[in-house]
Amino acid sequence: MSSQPKPRILFTRDEIDATVNRLAAEIKKDYLGKSPILIGVLKGSFMFMADLVRLLDFPLEVEFIRLSSYGRGRESSGKIKVVQGLRSEIRGRNLLVIEDIVDTGLTISFLLDYLRKKKPASLKLCALTDKPSRRQTPVTIDYLGLTVPDKFLVGYGLDWDEKFRNLPDICFVE
Ligand code: IMP
Ligand code: MG
Repeated sequence: MSSQPKPRILFTRDEIDATVNRLAAEIKKDYLGKSPILIGVLKGSFMFMADLVRLLDFPLEVEFIRLSSYGRGRESSGKIKVVQGLRSEIRGRNLLVIEDIVDTGLTISFLLDYLRKKKPASLKLCALTDKPSRRQTPVTIDYLGLTVPDKFLVGYGLDWDEKFRNLPDICFVE
């Protein structure tokens, strides 16, 4: 137990709430009447997705996709693949990808390319957090929650070696 890092709060649950409310208002304005499919990237987006969709009081669908990007711990393996794909037909649909964090950008770039090939009507990205200092490939984030410093984040869905996803605040470990 002593080797486990101790998370420190970066954004409180109140700050997260305000951010999710703002994003929901922006998304509602753009997607009302468009029956979008929100595609959460597992596992990190599960809590954000759950809070976000409760604020979107119009018809939409929820999907999840699972990619392998990070191995255990903090370092990206650099190799990305779809481990668990989508169940619904997405050709011609309005897709909104829901991510927990854009770090190097490699994972989300791969996913956006993968989805674009399936010919959706539209494809946009909503990310709760963005760590631009670590970017390796350019990424357009259409709906951005919080810009974060170059620290390793945990909590509110984000993990360190599968731990700390259940913390209600966004924290960092050193
Ligand atoms: P990227 O490919 O480097 O942009 O990394 C994307 C994925 O790595 C995210 O969806 C997260 O699952 C994970 N990740 C990146 N940075 C962090 C972090 O600070 N804490 C926890 N997970 C992270
Ligand atoms: Mg993720």
